Amino acid sequence: MAHLGELTVLGRDQLDLTAPDLEGRLEKLAPVGLGAIVNAAAYTKVDLAETEREPASLANALAPGILATFAEKRGALFIHYSSDYVYPGDKESPYEENDPTGPLNWYGETKLAGDRAVMATDAQWVILRTSWVYGLGGNNFPHTILRAAEYTLRLDMDQSQRGSPTSTELLAAVTAHILGGAVSYGKAPKGLFHLCPRGDCTWLEFSRFLVGEALALGMRLTLTPDGIKGREGPDRSRAATRPLNSRLSVRSIEESFGITLPHWKHHARRFVRACRDLKKTL
Ligand SMILES: NC(=O)c1ccc[n+]([C@@H]2O[C@H](COP(=O)([O-])OP(=O)(O)OC[C@H]3O[C@@H](n4cnc5c(N)ncnc54)[C@H](OP(=O)(O)O)[C@@H]3O)[C@@H](O)[C@H]2O)c1
Repeated sequence: MAHLGELTVLGRDQLDLTAPDLEGRLEKLAPVGLGAIVNAAAYTKVDLAETEREPASLANALAPGILATFAEKRGALFIHYSSDYVYPGDKESPYEENDPTGPLNWYGETKLAGDRAVMATDAQWVILRTSWVYGLGGNNFPHTILRAAEYTLRLDMDQSQRGSPTSTELLAAVTAHILGGAVSYGKAPKGLFHLCPRGDCTWLEFSRFLVGEALALGMRLTLTPDGIKGREGPDRSRAATRPLNSRLSVRSIEESFGITLPHWKHHARRFVRACRDLKKTL
């Protein structure tokens, strides 16, 4: 892989996307010779966004356009992550990038507005719409399942939503590939792409897979895959409605960047193994 150059990481403490004068603060923080901006920050509390509308809008709808405009001014590539929640989820097959959008919740509305703001700029932008993101860091679905599996005998899981669980490891690898191409050839294909693994599942299937893998790797759990039961219909205790179909076609990104994405089980397996290994070292 091409040498990507120097990386500057800015967290919320250094660059709060919702604070005033984002552009002025970017001017002060951005290094000379800036080649690319990757925006992984977002307001992601999907249910809370229904009531915390302003911070969600500032971070997800407004800030991406400002970041893209700044990238344009500096001649830098702009990579931005977006979401399956921009789609209504009522399609029978995987969503294509040019399918009509129609968010079901405020988080999705703000992510869509952010995508549109980026697209309205003349920056060299790449928007990567992904789904069901998880990783070793932070609190996310697989961590919750593996933790619960240590002390419970039964779980009820949704079997109505379908999507593709996407590892942050995959997102990072593909992002590095895009950046590497830009470094080597001076340009990356500009556009909107779906980025998730191949294959899809329900939350029920995903959780059964995680528990099955963990048991196969010798993790001590009280839960077995059979102890996870399917639940039909949405969880009505949640404030935000979720799309039933979160499946995203990845044909375009594979063709445009010359990559073949792995099946979702590949990184899910690696995730469980890494959790097992981390536990051993504790
Ligand atoms: N999670 C999913 O299932 C999913 C699915 C589809 C798309 N996506 C997209 O993927 C991207 C990454 O999501 P994620 O799940 O990794 O989110 P995450 O774990 O919640 O991380 C979001 C990051 O953004 C930071 N952030 C939030 N508000 C900020 C602000 N005002 N200023 C600066 N930084 C701020 C957070 O900082 P703090 O830690 O300080 O809060 C955190 O580091 C987002 O664009 C999201 O919309 C996620």
